[in-house]
Amino acid sequence: MCGIVGFLGKKEAAPILVEGLSKLEYRGYDSAGVAIINNNEIEIKKCKGRLKNLENKLEKEPVKGSIGIGHTRWATHGEPSDVNSHPHSNGKGTISVVHNGIIENYLKLREWLISKGYEFLSETDTEVIPNLVDYYYKGDLVDAVIKATGKMEGSYAIGVISTNEPDKLVAVRKDSPLIVGVGEGEYFIASDIPAVLNHTRNIYLLEDKEFVVMTKDGVELLTEDKEVVKKEIYHVTWNADAAEKGGCEDFTIKEIHEQPKALKDTMTSRIVLGEEIKLDKITLTKEQLEEVDRVYIVACGTAYHAGVVGKYVIEKLAKIPVEVDIASEFRYRDPLINEKSLLIVVSQSGETADTLAVLRDSKKKGARVLAMTNVVGSSVSREADDVLYTWAGPEIAVASTKAYITQLVAMYTFALHIATLKNTLKKEELEAIKAEMIELPGKVERILENKEEIQKFASKHYMEKDMFFLGRGLDYAVAMEASLKLKELTYIHSDAYAGGELKHGPIALIEKGTVVITSLTQRKLRDKMISNVKEVVTRGAKVMAIAYEGDTEVEKTMDSVIYIPETLDILAPVLAIIPLQLLAYYTAVQKGCDVDKPRNLAKSVTVE
Ligand code: AGP
Ligand code: GLU
Repeated sequence: MCGIVGFLGKKEAAPILVEGLSKLEYRGYDSAGVAIINNNEIEIKKCKGRLKNLENKLEKEPVKGSIGIGHTRWATHGEPSDVNSHPHSNGKGTISVVHNGIIENYLKLREWLISKGYEFLSETDTEVIPNLVDYYYKGDLVDAVIKATGKMEGSYAIGVISTNEPDKLVAVRKDSPLIVGVGEGEYFIASDIPAVLNHTRNIYLLEDKEFVVMTKDGVELLTEDKEVVKKEIYHVTWNADAAEKGGCEDFTIKEIHEQPKALKDTMTSRIVLGEEIKLDKITLTKEQLEEVDRVYIVACGTAYHAGVVGKYVIEKLAKIPVEVDIASEFRYRDPLINEKSLLIVVSQSGETADTLAVLRDSKKKGARVLAMTNVVGSSVSREADDVLYTWAGPEIAVASTKAYITQLVAMYTFALHIATLKNTLKKEELEAIKAEMIELPGKVERILENKEEIQKFASKHYMEKDMFFLGRGLDYAVAMEASLKLKELTYIHSDAYAGGELKHGPIALIEKGTVVITSLTQRKLRDKMISNVKEVVTRGAKVMAIAYEGDTEVEKTMDSVIYIPETLDILAPVLAIIPLQLLAYYTAVQKGCDVDKPRNLAKSVTVE
């Protein structure tokens, strides 16, 4: 999720745009750029890397002018590079655009524009926008933007300037955030409020497809039919730091709440009912897949826990044997990996040393490698044969939340893709799973709205010395991730056990008052799991369960129950983990821990 800004007023635009971008770097930092109208020319300065690189460039090559747009990028299409940096322009350089979002139908639009004689310089989806606006420009920039966005599918928040109408800035949003800042004779657009707070606290909070037309005379908001939109000014009372977190206390809770959008973005254009699964960066063919006799999923930490779910899902849906392992163990156990192996490496950062080492070793042994990563242009994405990006946006908090559930969706998507190639799933089964996947963002939203029970449990148990998580099947995979969240956020000792494993030793740990948490989403294993819970309850444990709405019978056994919406068992980890992320978060807040930067941890472990 990039950050975009725009300015129109009397002051020099460049410093205002750069300062605004500095408040949006948390939204993406692969590259940065500005486009400013100066003497009826659009001057563009843009480059790969952090905003600092752009600032240095502007120091050496200053740009004058008081109307401009700026961008700090989180790449989704086209790896971080100078040429893929925004702003993007039409060939004549008369129209420039900055964009946050994903144009799902960009390939079709690009081909159509090429057939009309347009040329493209970058690999991005964004570059179709200035060319579309150019194509529809017949003397009115607003009309051209309305027509161009009418052809675009997907998500966007865009700022547009043009030398055809050099005193105007046009903007619009659909599914990506955009606000308008209203100053004294100066006006702003931005992806988020922090970018304008030093200049104005008076904001228009835009709805989708409200077109912003900015000139020196003021700001007008129009519908697609060019009717004027009357909107109240929202006066911001936040301080700048709080605003970067969207009004949330910290990035951890902000990212927990971003999970519905992260799921939607990661499924967008890939999971469409009635259509084949579309995986734009996976060239693995049916024939190559037939040569594969084993899949290895290798990762670290939370990514490994996503891999545990992946093993279960790929075996169940695609009927291929899967091994899952942690990278630091896998790389030193002389794995039997060879040219018949398909290796899936999972890594949010794409830079984890052990995971990267496994990728390199495995390629040397002839394995084909698929990378699932959240960072476009990361090392694993560049060195793998295929890439399946999660589109969770930048994950700033050390404890991974939105990246984890988008890794799960990546696993489901890939499993469905190879099940289709291998014809191991009936069409109606495939469509049923896809239909339920599309429902997941809304179900996650519902869970996030009912956090009081979790907050109550956290305030009761935040001083515990131990908390144990139990599960069977996919609920065991959930238990692993929930236990890690609790450990890294609250520093409380915690372990995850397979329900059936308790009697082989761990039950010795249970004493009066021990807190045990379980999830009961695997319908075939539910009764067995309840029996395991009864074993610990009789030994004095306090048990909280995550259960499907309506399964009220479990209240007879548990001390507390958190209900989640029903879903297919195979998709349940996406929902079951949400209350357990919240449990770890609220327990950590009660303990006064630094939730965004837990002690001893780093966001990306780039050393062994
Ligand atoms: C997860 O909450 C942790 N921050 C950590 O376990 C993390 O998942 C692990 O270091 C792997 O990181 P990666 O996904 O960037 O490779
Ligand atoms: N899809 C655009 C790009 O890759 C914008 C990315 C974003 O909004 O994060 O450049």
